[in-house]
Amino acid sequence: MDVISVIRTKRDRGELSDEQIDWVIDAYTRGAVADEQMSSLAMAILLNGMNRREIARWTAAMIASGERMDFSSLSRPTADKHSTGGVGDKITLPLAPLVAACGAAVPQLSGRGLGHTGGTLDKLESIPGWRALLSNEEMLNVLNDAGSVICAAGDGLAPADKKLYALRDVTGTVEAIPLIASSIMSKKIAEGTGSLVLDVKVGTGAFMKNLDDARELASTMVGLGTDHGVRTVALLTDMSTPLGLTAGNALEVRESVEVLAGGGPSDVVDLTLALAREMLAAAGLPDADPAKALADGSAMDVWRRMIAAQGGDPDAPLPVARETHVVTAPASGVLTRLDAYDIGVAAWRLGAGRARKEDVVQAGAGVELHAKPGDSVEAGRPLLTLHTDTPERFEYALQALTGAYDVAPAGTGFSARPIVLE
Ligand code: URA
Repeated sequence: MDVISVIRTKRDRGELSDEQIDWVIDAYTRGAVADEQMSSLAMAILLNGMNRREIARWTAAMIASGERMDFSSLSRPTADKHSTGGVGDKITLPLAPLVAACGAAVPQLSGRGLGHTGGTLDKLESIPGWRALLSNEEMLNVLNDAGSVICAAGDGLAPADKKLYALRDVTGTVEAIPLIASSIMSKKIAEGTGSLVLDVKVGTGAFMKNLDDARELASTMVGLGTDHGVRTVALLTDMSTPLGLTAGNALEVRESVEVLAGGGPSDVVDLTLALAREMLAAAGLPDADPAKALADGSAMDVWRRMIAAQGGDPDAPLPVARETHVVTAPASGVLTRLDAYDIGVAAWRLGAGRARKEDVVQAGAGVELHAKPGDSVEAGRPLLTLHTDTPERFEYALQALTGAYDVAPAGTGFSARPIVLE
């Protein structure tokens, strides 16, 4: 087998054989196929696609590149959730302890932010002392003690995806449905969860900008999970405007704790509960009541145990950025649009995200929203507060916000998009 013939097959719109796929994934993981060759193949896949057989084989080869975890020793059913990524998407933080409080075990392997979308691990690392890197044994201990664990995937899990995802990120080849579906599902299947709920984001702040593409991604991933014996369901959810009222690391932890305390913005609460119900049903616990577990404090108890078990202090004050800058509403009326992508880019430029993998994120940086689409706003009153430790970034962040919002005269009809689209 040689890599040039594999690249040429896909470049010329052919179908890759099982043998070609197994070989190229293995050779790339071992370093026998170079990054420039794999990036050429990834671009050919982005442009020419793969059929379901090719995607299934590609996913199986990525799973086989590393170890598989096993949670069969746990007494509870396992349930996991994966979001395809968005702005202000802090849902994993309240959701994992909430579902654990309702009786499931939640092994949540999460990622870091790159580009305009935030990452769960970056958010949790703003809690003093909290550790994302756990050994498999530590992960199992936290799961046993607290019921949920949120941590980084170990190096042994789907190493082919680790290499390939980093390569796609710098070669403009992220937004390919076959590559996204196989990347996410190889990790989730190797992780060994019994059931999985996919939160497929749709809108400006998501990888999938329209419903048709999101449906295609969702059904591809559900098919892959089901074929591997994982009970898998997907919700398509709105990402045209940020979730909640914050985008940034410590800012989002603060908002998540508000949700666990029984408060928080209604869209975050609604989506957390919708995903919790799906996870509990998929785990065989359809009668559990997540709204009760939020209201009676049991989800908060699991959160505190989980954070402490990973070295964090749940009572420590969260970091706050050194400088703030207020953006005021340009007119009075109704806020009819607040663009998720633009807010995500602004938060990223303020220091909440990284431009290169090795960059260090600022815990306190980000954007706080004072209104959501459908709310009334008043000219000259605060619309957004920008937070950063490095005020020279304000101007660059403000550039991202030019054209990020629309205000219409009071009384203009406005119909809010539901948070769960399908
Ligand atoms: N998240 C992943 O893990 N992989 C992708 O390709 C896109 C989002």
